[in-house]
Formats: sequence, C-alpha cells, structure tokens
Amino acid sequence: HRLKSAVAVFHPWTFTTSLMFSFPQAALKKTPLFDFHRDQGGKMVEFAGWSMPVQYKDSHIASHMHTREHCSIFDVSHMLQTNVHGKDRVKFMESLVVADIAELKDNQGTLTLFTNEKGGIIDDLIVTKTDQGYLYVVSNAGCADKDSAHMKARLAEFKYAGFDVDLEFLDCALIAVQGPTMSRVLQAGLKEDLSKLTFMTSALATVFGVPDCRVTRCGYTGEDGVEISIPESRVVELTEKLAANSEVKLAGLGARDSLRLEAGLCLYGNDIDETTTPVEATLVWTIGKRRRQAKDFPGADIIVPQIKAKTARKRVGLVSTGPPVRQHTPILSPDGKVIGEVTSGCPSPCLKNNIAMGYVDAAFAKNGTGIQVEVRKKAVPATVSKMPFVPTKYYTG
Ligand SMILES: *[C@@H]1O[C@H](CO)[C@@H](O)[C@H](O)[C@H]1NC(C)=O
Repeated sequence: HRLKSAVAVFHPWTFTTSLMFSFPQAALKKTPLFDFHRDQGGKMVEFAGWSMPVQYKDSHIASHMHTREHCSIFDVSHMLQTNVHGKDRVKFMESLVVADIAELKDNQGTLTLFTNEKGGIIDDLIVTKTDQGYLYVVSNAGCADKDSAHMKARLAEFKYAGFDVDLEFLDCALIAVQGPTMSRVLQAGLKEDLSKLTFMTSALATVFGVPDCRVTRCGYTGEDGVEISIPESRVVELTEKLAANSEVKLAGLGARDSLRLEAGLCLYGNDIDETTTPVEATLVWTIGKRRRQAKDFPGADIIVPQIKAKTARKRVGLVSTGPPVRQHTPILSPDGKVIGEVTSGCPSPCLKNNIAMGYVDAAFAKNGTGIQVEVRKKAVPATVSKMPFVPTKYYTG
C-alpha cells in the first residue's frame, strides 16, 4: 500500500489511528487545498477517507516545535461544518448534546459531546451560538457520515413535532492557524481588534481582503489560535497570504497529533468512542450543570449516576522514559496485572519523554501512581500524570 509506506518512511511516530487506511485510494476525497499541499511538498496520506498532508518538507519534530514557538497553518477542511437554523435550534441541539447551549452568550462556543442512549460518545464537537440566528457546529471528519445521519434523524422528529429547525451542511473550507505569533500574523489582515476575540468566541470578518470568513478563537494544539471557515473558492488565496509571513509554516496531521496529545486533548476513535462514557473519559466538565440536574440529554440516566458513583475505569495521562508507548500498549499494575490499555501515545517533542493517555482501573488513576507499560513484551516503569502534559496557552483576554 503506497500510502502506508509513505507514513512509515516520512513519519517517525508511526502515526496511526483507526480512521486511517480504511478506504481504497481511488475513493479519497480532496479538500480545496489539495493541489496547494502537493505544490508545497506535502506528503499526502489517507485519513478518514480524505487525502491529507501528514507533513511537509520539515521533519515532524521541527513542525511541532515551530507551532509551539511561532505559527502554523493546518488544513482541517475535512471536518464537518453545519449551521443549525430556526427558532427551535437550541432545543434541537440540546436534544443531541450534553452542553448547556441556552446559556452560551452570543458568539460564544463550547466543546461538547453527542451521546447515545447507552451513555457512549458518538462524537466530540464544537457548537457556537452565533448572533446571526444560527448555531455553527464543527464535528470530526471520521464521524461526518454518522453525525449528519444522526442530526437528520433528529431533525425529522423535530419537524414532525412541529418545531422550527433546519440543517445546512456547509461547503466551506476550514484552516487552523495556531501558535504564539498567530495574533500578530492575523491582525495584519484584519480591521477588527483581535484582542477582543477571546478563547471560544467567534466573529464574521474580512481577512486579508477575503470576505465572509468565520474566525473562531479555538484549535486543537493547546496554543493560542483560530480556526477560519471560508468559502472554498478563496481558501488557497487566504492560505497563501497567511503563509507569506515568515512566521508561518504549513503543518500536517503528524504535528497535529503530537500537539493535541501534549495538550491532553482526545482524538475521537482513539481516546473516546461509543463504548466510553464522558465520566470514564474525564469529560464531565463538558456536561452543563442544568443538563445534569434535568437529566435531559441522551444517556443521562447512565451518565449522571456515574458522576457520583465513579466508574470502574478512567482516562489518565502516562509519562515514561525508554521505548515509545503506542496505542494498544497494555498498562500493568506494579505487580504485573493488566489494568488497562494505551489509547494514544508518542514521544513528546517538547518534554523529551514518552507521553500517552489510556484507560486504567480507577484504583490506579491518581496522579503520581507508579504503574508499568508493556512494550515489546517488557514491563517498563511509567507514572500516571495530570494533563495537559504541556501547559495550554489559550487567549482568555
Ligand atoms: C502529580 O504527581 C507528580 C509526581 O509524580 C508531582 O510532581 C506533581 O506535583 C503532581 N501534580 C499535581 C497537580 O498534583
């Protein structure tokens, strides 16, 4: 498989997720930046049915460090972008997710979860309550088909019950601009004062002369950053204008994965899925207080009691030295009993040790607990760690 070998050669971390390599190459979808990526030396691999750059000319580590010290652009156009219209849009969205959408201020967004009736996580997503009369929703590329089917099924129920809701699936590109110098880079092409746009807020703007951009201060690297949703026809132009700044480099899926892991952020399909609940995944903070009391989100009857009773297993961070720790690495107690499994792991470019997350028996979930990981049939000492592994630097004003 040509793409598989491309990853093995160019990506030193054996970056794999359950979403990669699952479609025949001929069927791969392309973002509007596909030709641009190739022109820029992007090494294209398959991800969730899309042909995406895993890295460019720089090494994965150089690209990762550039994002932590300067600014990188990631093409995330493969993600699903949806606008939810109609006067019952908040009620509709709250019937699907765990967040308190009603309490969001205008143009404020939140990370939330689609949950199922068994308490499992269907996807993680960001919902922004715009002041333009719609909710703006961004969810994962790997879940796009099931997310859209899930929303359409609920839409049919809502319409049948006489509610006013409509879905608009956007044909927009999406780029993430991430890193400590992002605000300087972006401000040069923006009339509005970017210092007013705090973490998890959103605005419509003209960016470097390109109108109708939705700029949301968020991202998945742990750095200050924005995601810019933009009409497909103008995304190459905008990306070129941003990349013309010497602060800026292009970055691919490889850096994105190690950056998000250092920031302690979950990758859907690896760290969370339909068999994990928000309590097991330590994502209870995403559940709105009012929603918890009302128990009115899918799976609430299972999830809410878990908050008090605790769960048998819990998602934790792990740090170790020595051989790299990868997805599916068994986690062992000090006396060698299997107590869990790693769901994501890589050598940390910033910390120079191995970082990982995984699920362990709750008895071993406390920060600082000494455990072991089984790498190539050998037990290697590891320590349960708080996350994020690298402090996050979100811009809160
Ligand atoms: C977590 O445990 C480590 C020891 O492994 C300790 O140095 C650190 O301060 C602890 N962090 C917190 C937040 O308790």
